Parts: sequence; structure tokens; C-alpha cells
Amino acid sequence: MKRFEKHIFVCENKRPDSDPRGCCLNKGGALVREKFKKRIKELGLNHEVRANSAGCMDACEYGITVLVYPEQIWYGSVTIDDVEEIIQSHIINNKPVEKFFIKDKRFHKDAGTKS
Ligand code: FES
Repeated sequence: MKRFEKHIFVCENKRPDSDPRGCCLNKGGALVREKFKKRIKELGLNHEVRANSAGCMDACEYGITVLVYPEQIWYGSVTIDDVEEIIQSHIINNKPVEKFFIKDKRFHKDAGTKS
């Protein structure tokens, strides 16, 4: 059995308030990661799922950015209110939550590949 089945990377990158790109930490990235960690533990998933802090994933305009492996699903504008649905649907039932996907095709799993 694999050590971890899923990794949830939550951007907690911090930039100065004056930076026009903004940053996920100022939007609440740390709170989102804490909520993922808390619920994963409460649900007894902490041996299969890990919620890691990530630096900038170059999707700042869509932050708070959350990336889930191994499916390579990019979620954007994630709030603490969205965490439970992502856990229940994607993490537990393997059904990614399309309404939270970053719509920009550059962040879709097959971007850059030929069909
Ligand atoms: S600051 Fe979060 S993706 Fe860049």
C-alpha cells in the first residue's frame, strides 16, 4: 500500500501588499490549509492524505490555489467554505469538483499534450 494516496497542495505564498500579483496567503491560504488538515484528521484520513503548504504555483490570479495529486486537479479561488465539498467529493469519493476548477486551460491536466 502506498504511504499517501493523495497530496493536497495549498498555496501559502506571501508577497508584499504593494505587489500587483497579490498572493494566496493574503487571501487566506493558511486558513484553507488548516481547514484541510483539521478535517482530514477528524475523518481519520491522515494516514492516506496529506495537506501540504506550497509556495507560489504561478496561478496567483486564481488564488487561493489548491492542487491535488495524483489527479493533477487545479482548484482556484478556494475558500474555507469549499474545503468540505472538495474532501467529500474528490478526496473521499474520487469525484473532482468541477465547479471549483481553474477554468484557464493552461491548468488542465492535458494542457500542452496532443490529442
Ligand atoms: S501566490 Fe499562490 S499561486 Fe502564486
